[in-house]
Amino acid sequence: MVFIGYKRLTLTEAPRLEITNITRRFGGRPVVDDVSLAVMPGQVTCLLGPSGCGKSTTLRIIAGVERADEGEIRMDGKLIAGGGVLVPPEARGTGLMFQDFALFPHLSVGDNVAFGLSGTRTEKRLRVRELLEKVGLHRYVDNFPHELSGGEQQRVALARALAPRPKIMLMDEPFSGLDNRLRDGIRDETLAVLKDEGTAVLLVTHEPEEAMRMADEIALMRRGRIVQRGAPYNIYNAPVDREAAAFFSDVNVIKGVVKGALTHTAFGQFLAPGYPDGAEVEIVIRPQHLRIDFDRGGQGPAPTPDHGVWAPATVARARFVGTESIVDFVMEDASTLKATVPNVFLPKPGTTLWVAIRRDRCFVFPAGGKSAQR
Ligand SMILES: Nc1ncnc2c1ncn2[C@@H]1O[C@H](COP(=O)(O)OP(=O)(O)OP(=O)(O)O)[C@@H](O)[C@H]1O
Ligand SMILES: [Mg+2]
Repeated sequence: MVFIGYKRLTLTEAPRLEITNITRRFGGRPVVDDVSLAVMPGQVTCLLGPSGCGKSTTLRIIAGVERADEGEIRMDGKLIAGGGVLVPPEARGTGLMFQDFALFPHLSVGDNVAFGLSGTRTEKRLRVRELLEKVGLHRYVDNFPHELSGGEQQRVALARALAPRPKIMLMDEPFSGLDNRLRDGIRDETLAVLKDEGTAVLLVTHEPEEAMRMADEIALMRRGRIVQRGAPYNIYNAPVDREAAAFFSDVNVIKGVVKGALTHTAFGQFLAPGYPDGAEVEIVIRPQHLRIDFDRGGQGPAPTPDHGVWAPATVARARFVGTESIVDFVMEDASTLKATVPNVFLPKPGTTLWVAIRRDRCFVFPAGGKSAQR
């Protein structure tokens, strides 16, 4: 059989926004620590990380309302901060949308959206109409903000920020003020409008689900630094270390010691290339990537290349939580494991089952949760 190689041609497109080696210290402590990041035109990049890791400070530096101690910022290749240059916030061409998106209460919906627009009255009217239609709110053009629901006000704020066609939208937890049930729908609608407008977006969030739902690219931030960048699929399935894996879901950690580039566990051998003999490693696996099978008179299923060795496990607790069940196991060495199973699966506590782990879904990291050695 002949395979004809197919390589996707990527035009060398310039980033819309490029920040290089940005550092910001407060009281001598770096809160943003040597951060570099690019946002491509038409793409949504999510800056994702736990509370206090420096996300908002990074966004504020890009907006120009906070200064950086070091580093440079370029918009469409043009220097806007760094090297003695400091373009003021209003001249940077950024659209801002923060959690507190406060509409002007004394202006109608239409006037709110028209607020930042220049041009003739007709041009403004057309642009307001276009955006309000995009967010599905044109019928409210003459209403006042207090006559709208929270979700509707949020959509008006989006229309207002997009109206002047910003080069980039900077959004800081824009959905966190909304009630849970509204939020998913509004996220999807917002994404559709942003994509339709072709706007580059840098969205800050501490919620992995939000980042996965919205982002073309995720930049994972921790203690002021970007620790990993990539498409949601890659960040989720190839985390850079245990902490990165654990940021997206519960994880199971199986401990091992390396001998001859292998580590032996109740689940068989795992490759640990590059680790010296005696090194302590952790095999990290998400609960949905455990496999469960029944006991057959004290025997489990035969080992397979995909699942390795099956190990006996005692059910400690099983709960149904909606779309899946969570089963907690105690292993023979008294360690615990957590498995999730689609739909309803509620074995009785004390039941012996057999557990295996998907070899293509586990990661071997050095013990202690630090970055993997390669
Ligand atoms: N003006 C300031 N002076 C002193 N410390 C500050 C200042 N602004 C922010 N910090 C500190 O910098 C750190 C990062 O703050 P930042 O607001 O960027 O975090 P964040 O990642 O946005 O967190 P969250 O998810 O909670 O919004 C925090 O410890 C904060 O207290
Ligand atoms: Mg913040």
